[in-house]
Amino acid sequence: MVFRSAFLIIAVLVCWCLPAVADESVSCLRCHPVHYAERGSCVDCHRGDPRSSRPVIAHFGLIPADYSDFTLPESAVVKNGNKLLDEMACRRCHVIGGRGNRLATSLDQSVNLSDPLRLAEAIREPVLFMPDFHLPDPLLVEVVNALYAAGVGREVPAEQTPQVVHFEESDENEDNAFIKNCGACHRTLTTALGGLGSGEVAPNLSGLLTPFFPPTYKDDSDDPWNRDRLKKWIDNPRKSRPLVRMAPVRLEEEDFSRLMDILSEDVTVEGDSQEK
Ligand code: HEC
Ligand code: HEC
Ligand code: HEC
Ligand code: HEC
Repeated sequence: MVFRSAFLIIAVLVCWCLPAVADESVSCLRCHPVHYAERGSCVDCHRGDPRSSRPVIAHFGLIPADYSDFTLPESAVVKNGNKLLDEMACRRCHVIGGRGNRLATSLDQSVNLSDPLRLAEAIREPVLFMPDFHLPDPLLVEVVNALYAAGVGREVPAEQTPQVVHFEESDENEDNAFIKNCGACHRTLTTALGGLGSGEVAPNLSGLLTPFFPPTYKDDSDDPWNRDRLKKWIDNPRKSRPLVRMAPVRLEEEDFSRLMDILSEDVTVEGDSQEK
């Protein structure tokens, strides 16, 4: 009799616990307390695998605490991160939050496929054609949070994923108007020809003639770069910015128009077409 009621009590307890076992976040709850329950489940914000109680598996692809701020509304971290994305003009190469140039991987796609530590590493140790921004860790965390805030759950249309070939320069490119005239000091990304130039000393000119390149033509105005201004600049950069360290470059008319063909690709994705 005693055994029987003990069995019943256990059976009741097991049933009472079952709904919790069915809860997708249960493995997390074996080791962690609940927080932000009213805002969603653990994996909504942190990802990971809630079916496993082995930390290596449960934490696979985890969004760690520092990189979770993007899940909170009106996060100051995200706000600072957005400011940095603009200041460093990341959108001259990447689409972020549905806006930008498709000269390099869409970061809206990256945040849905990758974890924050991997992306932070890609910014800390950039590939050849991505500038090194030398971001200290706290700012790097803000930038990555801003990328997740902009891109998580966003669908990336096929035409926005760049078909960029980033091959090393080949001999065939020697006659290329950018490599020949600008490439000793500058680099640029193109979708047609891949990365051009090998310069380290001057700014990366990717997306120069698009709305996402900073308006650096003149010191005291926000005039964006365009064909005419670039021509004047090449003829005499110091007429626009007296202290600039670039000397005039002699360019035949034909070379200039070949340069324009390279720099005028239509690579810009504007937010509105995506924000349906
Ligand atoms: C077996 C126990 C265990 C399970 C299961 C587990 N965790 Fe953890 N978790 C830990 C321990 C221990 C730490 C602290 C040490 C570390 O970072 O590995 C931690 C750390 C974390 C952190 C902070 C990491 C950081 O560096 O900021 C987050 C977020 C987290 N876990 C989320 C989850 C989520 C979400 C799940 C379920 C999908 C989960 N954990 C499942 C034991 C567990
Ligand atoms: C709304 C999004 C959200 C949800 C849902 C959420 N977290 Fe978090 N979590 C965060 C944020 C943001 C942080 C960073 C510190 C903070 O704000 O508390 C964090 C921090 C953590 C940490 C680091 C230690 C700490 O408390 O600071 C752990 C561990 C963790 N979460 C586990 C979990 C688990 C387990 C669940 C599911 C029960 C969960 N989180 C649900 C957003 C969330
Ligand atoms: C001049 C172009 C350029 C600029 C500007 C640029 N990047 Fe990149 N970025 C690249 C290239 C090229 C890659 C390598 C992936 C590829 O080939 O498309 C890359 C890769 C990345 C990756 C890794 C993506 C992944 O899925 O592996 C991240 C994250 C990233 N960039 C973030 C940034 C951030 C943040 C900024 C601004 C601070 C920035 N990038 C500015 C060109 C650029
Ligand atoms: C001998 C090296 C050299 C060559 C060749 C050169 N530049 Fe420059 N360029 C520079 C340097 C250095 C700067 C940065 C000036 C500064 O900020 O003081 C610069 C700046 C620029 C800028 C302004 C970018 C910005 O955001 O500040 C543009 C645009 C530009 N160059 C275009 C070109 C073009 C197009 C060519 C080829 C026709 C070219 N440059 C050839 C060295 C060079």
